[in-house]
Amino acid sequence: MGNIHNFGVGMIVAIIICRILIGSDLMKNMMFNGCDVVELARKHGTPLYVMDENHIMDRIREIREDFLERHPDTRAVYASKAFLTKEMARIVKREGIGMDVVSAGELYTALKADFPMEKIVFHGNNKSQDEINMAVDNGVGRIVIDHIQEIPMVDRAAREKGTRAEVIFRISPGIESHTHRYIMTGQVDSKFGIPLTDETIKRAMATMEEAENVELMGFHFHIGSQLMEKETHLMAVDIMFRLMKDLKDQYNFVTKELNTGGGYGIEYGHGQKRKPLSYYTDAIIEEVALKSDEYGLKKPIVTIEPGRWVVGEAGITLYSVGAIKEIPEIRTYISIDGGMPDNPRPSLYQAQYTGVIANKVGMERTEQVTVAGKCCESGDILIWDLMVPKVETGDILAVMSTGAYNYSMSSNYNRIPRPAVVMVRDGVDRVIVKRETFDDLLRNDL
Ligand code: LLP
Repeated sequence: MGNIHNFGVGMIVAIIICRILIGSDLMKNMMFNGCDVVELARKHGTPLYVMDENHIMDRIREIREDFLERHPDTRAVYASKAFLTKEMARIVKREGIGMDVVSAGELYTALKADFPMEKIVFHGNNKSQDEINMAVDNGVGRIVIDHIQEIPMVDRAAREKGTRAEVIFRISPGIESHTHRYIMTGQVDSKFGIPLTDETIKRAMATMEEAENVELMGFHFHIGSQLMEKETHLMAVDIMFRLMKDLKDQYNFVTKELNTGGGYGIEYGHGQKRKPLSYYTDAIIEEVALKSDEYGLKKPIVTIEPGRWVVGEAGITLYSVGAIKEIPEIRTYISIDGGMPDNPRPSLYQAQYTGVIANKVGMERTEQVTVAGKCCESGDILIWDLMVPKVETGDILAVMSTGAYNYSMSSNYNRIPRPAVVMVRDGVDRVIVKRETFDDLLRNDL
């Protein structure tokens, strides 16, 4: 009897211990580059952008080792529109590649981070004279002529400064890339670039002849963003080579540079994996060599301009779960303390994200919920139909792959202050952008 009793008690104790062990195991917190993200949320508050510096360094190392060092006569610039702060500019500078900016504000950020101006490529489809002056005065490496009207503007700025500005033409090569309509940029019917028609190219070349202080170095294309296949880049290279050949024949113009833009895709958690850089760039380099031979042209310097590919997967955003609303047999909304103002991509492009309840990693995902932002806007839904464990108010939601075009596209809609940005390196976190305060919101109000 006694033995059976002891056995029964022993079993119960064992079951309790197992439960505790299994329970604690299931309730693990999510780790991100050596940091417990629940701790990060507690320490810095939510919503919170968290960026993994090691991931950014790895991507830039891949650019150096698999592109710049493997192929002679190449250049790489990070498209800073994807994510730019002073610290990010310092990291890009330290890691040794150039940077593309598209506005005086981005240029100013680079200047304040002591970014080497000769490594800056200045883009933009409607540069003001002031912006062009700023670029020329500070000696940026390349100005990208997006429109013929910009040629005399650059000429004026260079003349006043007593210098010669080196430019490239952005060409819209007439290619429809496979991505969302709003982030397709290479088609002829586009607000970007000089359309590739004989008439326009002739006019652009004639305008260049009059611009004594401007030197045309070559051409640029950017055909779209979040591209998972290399084919459109290769098509664009072919089209540009036809242009380069025509210009050689007609004007004896030698193209020194070909800037092939960015656009390489990343993983957003729905099965499509980020491809290695070389998947795109080896093919581009090979095509450039092939076409140079075919047309008997000198091989141009090839530049790439990746943005999303460098920072996209480096970022996560942490939110606190607030109101939970169950509409029986329809859906359950979980509301978070951010949304559209810190990540407008789902509402702008129907971008799909995935997330995890960071304090319940390992627990079985038994519920389907829809993640709603806190804006006064029905379209402010961050994720539809996300599978999660039993979710409770106060849980921390981590949304993945938010490093590109989230902070940089954030707004103060509904007067919601922007989150802080924390950079994590080797398990150590540091704030690189402070959380906005209510007074920040009022700073310019009179
Ligand atoms: N170069 C030029 C001239 C560009 O216009 C862009 C992006 C890039 C490089 C970098 O592209 P990436 O490597 O990041 O794909 N806000 C949109 C993306 C707009 C991209 C505009 N141009 C989004 O959130 O998906």
